[in-house]
Amino acid sequence: MLPKLIAVGLAACAVALGQPAGFNYDEAAVPTYELPRILRSADGTAVRTAADWPARRAEILELFQDQVYGAAPAAPPGMAFSVLEQDAAALGGLAHRKQVRVEFGDAAGVSSMEILLYTPARAGGPVPVFLGLNFGGNHTVHQDPAIRLADRVTADGLEEGRDADRGSRSSRWQVEMLLRRGYGVATAYCADLDPDFDDGFRNGVHPLAPPEDPGDWGTIAAWAWGLSRALDYLQTDARVAGARVAVIGHSRLGKTALWAGARDERFAMVISNDSGCGGAALSRRRFGETVERINTRFPHWFADNFSAYNGKEDELPVDQHMLLALVAPRPLYVASAAEDLWADPQGEFLAARHAGEVYELLGRRSLGALQRPAVNEPVMRDVGYHIRAGKHDITAYDWERYIDFADSHWPRD
Ligand code: GCU
Repeated sequence: MLPKLIAVGLAACAVALGQPAGFNYDEAAVPTYELPRILRSADGTAVRTAADWPARRAEILELFQDQVYGAAPAAPPGMAFSVLEQDAAALGGLAHRKQVRVEFGDAAGVSSMEILLYTPARAGGPVPVFLGLNFGGNHTVHQDPAIRLADRVTADGLEEGRDADRGSRSSRWQVEMLLRRGYGVATAYCADLDPDFDDGFRNGVHPLAPPEDPGDWGTIAAWAWGLSRALDYLQTDARVAGARVAVIGHSRLGKTALWAGARDERFAMVISNDSGCGGAALSRRRFGETVERINTRFPHWFADNFSAYNGKEDELPVDQHMLLALVAPRPLYVASAAEDLWADPQGEFLAARHAGEVYELLGRRSLGALQRPAVNEPVMRDVGYHIRAGKHDITAYDWERYIDFADSHWPRD
C-alpha cells in the first residue's frame, strides 16, 4: 500500500495529466485475471496448426461482432464514387491531391463521405497508402487551402466548417513526411459516417441498417465500415497500390482502425495509436479506463451487448489480445504513450504480445516473450510495438516508426 499522502499526490498528478480520478493507475492494484485462450476453440479443442486457424478466427470475429462492436451491413448496392477535384501539382509540387465523394445512396442518414487523398506527385507507379479517419474534418489535417471545408455536426446542430481551422490537426498527419518517403495518405472525416454523439442512431450511416438488436452496429462499427468503403474506392484508384493499404487510427479512431482491420482482410497492415480501452488494451486489467466507464460515457460507441460486461470484465468471452490476433498474419503495430495511463500502455503491450501466439502459429514473428521495451525503443517484427515519451497524441515520432515498419514489410527499389 502506498502511504496516503503519496497516493493522493499521484491521483492529483493523474488528473493533471488528463487521467480522470477514481480509476486505477497502480500496477500493483491490477486484479489477477485469466485471459480467454486464443488457441482453444469454443468446443474446447486445441488449435494446433495453421490449417486450424481460419475456423477459430471466424469464431472470435463473431464474438467481437455480437458482444463488442456490433454487426454492420455489406456495402450499399447504390454506392458511387465521384472525383470532386484533383491537382497534379499540389503542396508546392510535392503531391497529387484528389478529393473523392463516396455516395451511399438514399437510405443513409448522410448521403456521402469525402476522401482526401495525397500521393507523391512523382510516383513512378501505384504507391502504398496509409488510410485513417480524422476527428475534425479533412481541412484540419493540412493547411492546403484547396481542401474542402467539412461542416461539423454536433448534438446542438450544424456548424459550418471554418477556414480558421485549416491545418489545426496537421501535427497528427505528417503529410509531407509520408509523401517524401514514397507513401500516399488518405483520410475522411469520421462524422461524415457518424457524428460522435448519442442520438439513437438517426444520423450518419446507421439508417442503412437501423440498429434494432443489441448485437447491431454502434458508432465504432459504423466508422470501421466507412474505412472499408474508403478502401473500396482506393482499390479502384490507379495511383494507389490497393494491396498495400495500411489502416491507422488514434485513440477512438485507433479502436476503429483495429476493428476495421480485424473485419476486412483487404487491409494489408493495421496500426493502433494509443487506442486504449475497447482498442488494444486488455479489458480484464481494469487499469485506467474501464468497460463500465466507456459504455457509460460513450453509450453509442459499442453494441448494446457490450454493456452487459460493465464491472464484469471476467465474463467477457474475449479480450483485446484476440482482436489483435484477428489481424494475423498481416503486419500489426501497436503504440502507446508513456503519460497516457488512461489507455493503459502495459495492457496495450501485453495484448500485442499475446496476439503473437497466432503469428507464430502462422509462421510469422511475434514480439517474443520480452518485457515491455523502454520508452522510445521500438520493436519491429511482424508485430511491432513502441511506447513513446509524452502524452496521448499521434506525433511525428509515431509516424516515423509506422513508415519504418511499412518500409520493412514493403521494400521497394
Ligand atoms: C476518451 C475516451 C477514450 C478515447 C479518447 C479519444 O478519453 O475515454 O476511450 O480513446 O477519448 O478518442 O481521444
